[in-house]
Amino acid sequence: MNMENHIKRVKRREFLKSSAKLAAGTMLLGLGSSKIFGALNPGRLENSIETVTLNNGVKMPILGFGTLYLNGDEGIRCVSDAISVGYRLIDTATIYGNEESVGGGIKQSGIKREELFVTSKLWVDDYGYESTKKAFDTSLNKLGLDYLDLYLIHRPRGDVKGSWKAMEELYKEGKIKAIGVSNFEDGHIDDLISNFEIKPVINQIESHAFFQQDRANESLKKYGIQMEAWSPLAQGRNEHFTNQTLAAIGEKYNKTNAQVSLRWHYQRGIIAIPRTSKKAHMMENLKIFDFELNKSDMQTIAALDLNITQFPEWE
Ligand SMILES: NC(=O)c1ccc[n+]([C@@H]2O[C@H](COP(=O)([O-])OP(=O)(O)OC[C@H]3O[C@@H](n4cnc5c(N)ncnc54)[C@H](OP(=O)(O)O)[C@@H]3O)[C@@H](O)[C@H]2O)c1
Repeated sequence: MNMENHIKRVKRREFLKSSAKLAAGTMLLGLGSSKIFGALNPGRLENSIETVTLNNGVKMPILGFGTLYLNGDEGIRCVSDAISVGYRLIDTATIYGNEESVGGGIKQSGIKREELFVTSKLWVDDYGYESTKKAFDTSLNKLGLDYLDLYLIHRPRGDVKGSWKAMEELYKEGKIKAIGVSNFEDGHIDDLISNFEIKPVINQIESHAFFQQDRANESLKKYGIQMEAWSPLAQGRNEHFTNQTLAAIGEKYNKTNAQVSLRWHYQRGIIAIPRTSKKAHMMENLKIFDFELNKSDMQTIAALDLNITQFPEWE
């Protein structure tokens, strides 16, 4: 199945699911947020997310907010909420069809542009030198921004070299602060590095407890490229949120499975961009800097690796 059809199918499924749960969910949020997160101070959080320095000197938050499937008014609300509770890195892509919503959320939040780190991605239909430049302008217009912090080639297909040439130029013109790739393997990266002046700063790939990608991470380190994890919570697949191993570790620190997973990414030095439509989960996912997994916890989580994608339909 192609990505577009998959997105339509999942959007419909998630819409039906969320319509059914709307009333109950709203009530729970209203009650739960002040009780569970009463001590949280969003003002303090603003400056508490550490940054990673990319290979071109640009600093990027190590924890951010993913926006796949967050579209329309819900997308605007989610992005605005995410910024209000402390997220500064926002990850979108042309294929998500939500750059306008992300831009709307940024505007609604009232935050200064320079405080944010915004990533978008070039979709395969726009690969090639000329099309990349056009697609980039369209993305900027939709987002209502005049530069991007990070622009990624979404998948290693088609005229990647034509696109990279265009991205190098946009980078040199200052319209993008950093350029990178997503879903690339070593061979694709070698090909870029040996043919171009500027090497990618990031490779954004699938990584979570069930597909950890240690080998890819080691290899990226050798290239000086930072790994960023997509679907850091495995989208809840493989029963991530009720996994007993993660729950037993979380119990020791009074943390949820999501927090254990996000802390694990953080301790591995990997940037993670969890997505959630719920403000309570947005806050929960930020509360990972007040505990530490010990060596044995890290080894226990390492043993959960199935070493296989949990998203075979996107292969
Ligand atoms: N480059 C690529 O090819 C690629 C591919 C996929 C994704 N991405 C990027 O990576 C981002 C993250 O990946 P993802 O959206 O696929 O999945 P994800 O972040 O791993 O998981 C999202 C799911 O987790 C749930 N969730 C989040 N926090 C939770 C919590 N604290 N407790 C319980 N459930 C929680 C959300 O539901 P609720 O809304 O109910 O909280 C949602 O269903 C995307 O949004 C996108 O920006 C990139």
